[in-house]
Amino acid sequence: MNWDAILAPYAQAVEELKIKLKGIRKQFEYESKHSPIEFITGRVKPVSSILEKAEARRIPLDRIEELQDIAGVRVVCPFVDDIYTIVKMIRSREDLQISDEKDYIAHKKESGYRSYHMIIEYPVETIQGVKMVIAEIQIRTLAMNFWATNEHSLNYKYKGNIPSDIKSRLQRAAEAAFKLDEEMSIIKNEVQEAKRLFHRK
Ligand code: GTP
Ligand code: MG
Repeated sequence: MNWDAILAPYAQAVEELKIKLKGIRKQFEYESKHSPIEFITGRVKPVSSILEKAEARRIPLDRIEELQDIAGVRVVCPFVDDIYTIVKMIRSREDLQISDEKDYIAHKKESGYRSYHMIIEYPVETIQGVKMVIAEIQIRTLAMNFWATNEHSLNYKYKGNIPSDIKSRLQRAAEAAFKLDEEMSIIKNEVQEAKRLFHRK
């Protein structure tokens, strides 16, 4: 299989989405407003992971486009409410279609994982014409990202079977991270309120 050719539209989609989302951040900076985006990352799933997942899900290789996270973009936000600002902005865009949304913040996963996921269909112009590419956008706070990155490393280390004592420690850490997000949101509102009062004078 010519993986470079198969994955080219996905790589194109990841690059374009990163540029477009970075554009949102720049616009907030120009208007010297609080930016709902801290940073953006993106990646094309490595071929080895594509093969593993396709096999686990019994998806034949001529249907790998059924995997929804070959193209992945992650938006990391300072505060929880920034996540929903980004979600609304993505929903209102005319250059993509949303096919699914999962709110793992309102409904955290068993592991303790929190994030907002959007599955989108994104048109990429190729020399053969327009190709619709499926991509996954994960939107989360810095604290959620810190937790997920560490949990991901442990999952890798223990090959998906994290010992139960570490698992419960992770669940407690997830709650601590969320508590931090909640406390920070209150402080953020305080600061914004103070600013409004100041400008009114
Ligand atoms: P996969 O989990 O990717 O097989 O697909 P799914 O259809 O079950 O989607 P889901 O929304 O559960 O997860 C999609 C992606 O979210 C994953 O590939 C991970 O990047 C991330 N994710 C989901 N659950 C967890 C978790 O418990 N820990 C971490 N670190 N990441 C998670
Ligand atoms: Mg899953």
